[in-house]
Amino acid sequence: MTPEELMERAHEAAKNAYAPYSGFRVGAALEMASGRVICGANVENRSYGLSNCAERTAIFTALSMGERDIRAVAVAGPDSREPLPPCGACRQVISEFCDSETPLYYDDGNGSYLSSTVGKIYPANSLMNLAGKSRKRQNRL
Ligand code: THU
Repeated sequence: MTPEELMERAHEAAKNAYAPYSGFRVGAALEMASGRVICGANVENRSYGLSNCAERTAIFTALSMGERDIRAVAVAGPDSREPLPPCGACRQVISEFCDSETPLYYDDGNGSYLSSTVGKIYPANSLMNLAGKSRKRQNRL
C-alpha cells in the first residue's frame, strides 16, 4: 500500500469523527502486517478530558481485533491548517506497538502530507523494558 493510499484511508476515517466540542476531526489508519488496514477517529465527550484521539482509537481497535503488528501509520486532519503529527500521549502509545523505523505519515495542513518515522517523532522512548520484558515479547503475550 502506498503512503497516499494509507492517507486516503485516514481521511475516510476522519469522516467518522465525533468532535462536536472542538469541531476538529481526525482520522488514523494503520497498515498491519496481515495486510489489513485498521482505522480510527477521534471520539470526544462532554466531559472533555475523556476524549480519545484517532490514533489511540485505531490502535485500541487493532489490538481488540487481535492485530498487533503495525507496519505504517497515517494521520489525517481535514480541519487542520498546520501539520498534524500525533500528540504526545499518542506517541507513547504508538511506540508500544511500532519499531522506531515504522513509517508515519501525517497531514501537512496544506493539502499534502509529511513523511516521518515513529523514532523521529518519539526519539527518547520510555519504559521500553518495564518488568524486564522487551516490547516484542510483550506483543507475543
Ligand atoms: N486529536 C487527535 O485525534 N489526534 C491528534 O493527533 C491531535 C488531536 C483530537 C483530540 C480532540 O478530539 C481534537 O483532536 C482536538 O484536540
